[in-house]
Amino acid sequence: MRIAMIGGGYVGLVSAACFAAFGAEVAVVEADPPKLAALRAGRMPIYEPGLDELIAKGTADGLLSFGDDIAAAVQGAEAVFIAVGTPTRRGDGHADLTYVYAAVQQIAQVLGDYAVIVTKSTVPVGTGRRIAAIVRELRPELAFDVASNPEFLREGSAIGDFMRPDRVVIGCESERARDVLARLYAPIEALPAPVVFTGIETAELIKYAANSFLAMKVTFINEMADLCERLGADVREVAHSIGLDARIGPRFLQPGPGFGGSCFPKDTLALVRIAQEAAAPSRLIEAVVAVNDARKAGMAGRIVTALGGSVRGRKIAILGLTYKADTDDMRDSPAIPIVARLAEDGAKLQVYDPEGMEQARPLLPDNLAWCQNAREACAGVDAVVVVTEWQEFRDLSPADLRSAMAGTLVIDLRNIYDPQAMRDAGLLYRGIGQG
Ligand code: UGA
Repeated sequence: MRIAMIGGGYVGLVSAACFAAFGAEVAVVEADPPKLAALRAGRMPIYEPGLDELIAKGTADGLLSFGDDIAAAVQGAEAVFIAVGTPTRRGDGHADLTYVYAAVQQIAQVLGDYAVIVTKSTVPVGTGRRIAAIVRELRPELAFDVASNPEFLREGSAIGDFMRPDRVVIGCESERARDVLARLYAPIEALPAPVVFTGIETAELIKYAANSFLAMKVTFINEMADLCERLGADVREVAHSIGLDARIGPRFLQPGPGFGGSCFPKDTLALVRIAQEAAAPSRLIEAVVAVNDARKAGMAGRIVTALGGSVRGRKIAILGLTYKADTDDMRDSPAIPIVARLAEDGAKLQVYDPEGMEQARPLLPDNLAWCQNAREACAGVDAVVVVTEWQEFRDLSPADLRSAMAGTLVIDLRNIYDPQAMRDAGLLYRGIGQG
């Protein structure tokens, strides 16, 4: 089966590589010349564990190809996936659909035979129907269907999430479209994971509902962490015990410096706007957005307080810059406001991230010491702040930290260390929500 993937970004590349692994012939269209050149040379424009091997295999098997010509890519394709970016539009919190509609216009002009046009990018409810109207207007004679197939991939474990999903959601309205997509996802049907067919609007909303719910769960445990600090309770035990209730579940209950990334902040904001415009405002998600923004903005203040009220001239190691581990993505990372405020207040910062340094540089002030590894970042500092939960930082022993540092304060915004072991090594340990 032949398919086209419009957009060689994060979602497009992972989906294309995985569909090729399922045996489909996938033509990826990437408009950005340097990115396309890199892909053709086998270099990955993003960091995602296992992606380079999978893409190399798909290419070697003759199933995966990269180009910039939409007409050639959609030739003979039974499904054309739109996986272009949908950033938050300036000013109003809506998803910016400029790239989606530009892709639709191009696809409409070059489609020959019947194909299903599928949105993989996260798009507001109603977009599928708009796409159908645009194509119908441009090509009244064309046989086509529109479908919504949202992705639920986490950066850092995207390939596993695609190959072994909890579910696949497909919103479509014709038997023909359903048949095409059911054949494409046939390898998943062999797994216990259900392929759920819904209406188009429902599928579009499922994506926002899922991300907003998870963002709400994270925000809930972050608030509980603050409460634990005030009440002398331990959020790790609260999370563990509530998570044992099958109705709650243990995942996404790790407190931290606030959620970031390219999805939760954008999708919660978009859901708020969608709900407001539909005259069914989501007070809950409005609160999630506000609470999380305030948390990220206030995180540096906690560090200043822990250092006695001023960081002027103090040497601080920042371990981790990306919004979570196993990605090089810096979008909406809590590290950005933390580093900006500490630097502004006169701290001398030694920063290190295993994968995110390049992406971080343009987003952070220039007066930072950029280190080669965690040990170098911790050398001679008064305090260590763990912002991202990289394995490399988990592997540092309390003795490693103690011997590298000049001071003793360890502020662990991800609760990756054992507090007792830290104290035993003579360190002053501050986790999140450990009252
Ligand atoms: C998220 C969803 O998990 C995916 O299902 C979805 O497909 C994706 O968005 C998307 O819309 O494309 P992702 O942003 O890669 O994936 O990362 P998550 O692992 O969900 O983490 C999101 C944020 O929540 C991060 O800042 C992370 O540090 C934070 N988080 C997550 C916590 O603070 N605590 C947790 O327990 C879990």
